[in-house]
Amino acid sequence: MKRNIIITGGAGFIGSHVVRLFVNKYPDYRIINVDKLTYAGNLANLRDIEDRPNYRFVKMDICDFEAVSALIKEENVDGIIHLAAESHVDRSIKDPFTFARTNVLGTLSLLQAARLNWEPMGWNCPSEESSDVRIPCRFYHVSTDEVYGALALDKPEGNPPYGTDFFREDTPYNPHSPYSASKASSDHFVRSFHDTYGMPVVISNCSNNYGPYQFPEKLIPLFINNIRKGKPLPVYGKGENVRDWLYVEDHARAIDLIFHEGRTAQTYNIGGFNEWKNIDLIKVMVKTVDRLLGNPEGHSLRLITFVTDRAGHDLRYAIDSTKLHNELGWEPSLQFEEGIEKTVRWYLDNQDWMDNVTSGEYQRYYEEMYKL
Ligand code: NAD
Ligand code: DAU
Repeated sequence: MKRNIIITGGAGFIGSHVVRLFVNKYPDYRIINVDKLTYAGNLANLRDIEDRPNYRFVKMDICDFEAVSALIKEENVDGIIHLAAESHVDRSIKDPFTFARTNVLGTLSLLQAARLNWEPMGWNCPSEESSDVRIPCRFYHVSTDEVYGALALDKPEGNPPYGTDFFREDTPYNPHSPYSASKASSDHFVRSFHDTYGMPVVISNCSNNYGPYQFPEKLIPLFINNIRKGKPLPVYGKGENVRDWLYVEDHARAIDLIFHEGRTAQTYNIGGFNEWKNIDLIKVMVKTVDRLLGNPEGHSLRLITFVTDRAGHDLRYAIDSTKLHNELGWEPSLQFEEGIEKTVRWYLDNQDWMDNVTSGEYQRYYEEMYKL
């Protein structure tokens, strides 16, 4: 079946993997990547698919309600997969307004634009081939496990899990950072559009992603790059915080599955049952990068530098993704050891990508090419 799908934030880290998956897997779909190209948006993440006939890039701010609404109409859009967001906790602590604008008002702008287009058609869009064939519309909101707050670290020694509790779909929301508060708010707006207007929505909340094309302000790419350059590795607090890591392509596969088969108005948690204390993960990264660079074992451990903790730093995240497994059969495809090796190799093999991002060159190249 032909579908016309907007993917927002497709030039970012996870969005670029979702766009690539959909463009390759569904040649009959038209995939429209809507992205404002903030500092985190990088079209070089999509170089391998940018010339495909079923792909279109549109530079647009999701907060621009009129523009979004016109695009939905123009492209006869029947599905929206919404990833565009301000996504970095540290930035949200410095500049909360930007997070409220994009994550809350931007999501609301998309919801309202989709509603005004879809509601008059009874939430069923005509397919392009025939106006008799109707495609149920779908608004898929991609959210985070951070909306649930933080879990206790009641088993800090030994092997994971580091606590008895996990985030489940019915865990009450308890966000702590301006970032997670803005994502929680956007989740509430999405649910309210289902409950109030009957919009067919679905939401997923995922744990920490890692893999290629992640902006090097986040722990894993930042530290790989710093180890390569012999720069300090700033570990917040004592490095005791726990995160649950998932390879980004496994997240993209889950999004594909939930978009097509998830039940309307449901929430699905996505995670790999893969908890790591930051300091242990950092030691694995140091070991892997040193080995691949031919350095003696332990060479870069001296770069580890304990610094002032992040304000309001959530202690532990751990996702229970049993619902997604039981209902849709999803499970992660990569063991962490394999995923981290693949990731470190990718960043070391793609130093041009990293150097372009850290120098700011990536923005100038596409500005020129697209006359942005
Ligand atoms: P990212 O910061 O790498 O990318 C965000 C993208 O959104 C960028 O391309 C940026 O240009 C675009 N964008 C920002 N503001 C915009 C606006 N106003 N209009 C249009 N585009 C705009 O983010 P990411 O890490 O890929 O995260 C994507 C989504 O997944 C976010 O919604 C995030 O909350 C969620 N998420 C991320 C993780 C993670 O570990 N990174 C985990 C769970 C959920
Ligand atoms: O859990 C999902 C979330 O994961 C997503 O919603 C966010 O968009 C994404 O950024 C990520 O949030 P975190 O804050 O967990 O990711 P970050 O990579 O910033 O940090 C991971 C852990 O490492 C966290 O405990 C803070 C710590 N850290 C991070 C940086 C950047 C450091 O110790 N030093 C650092 O320099």
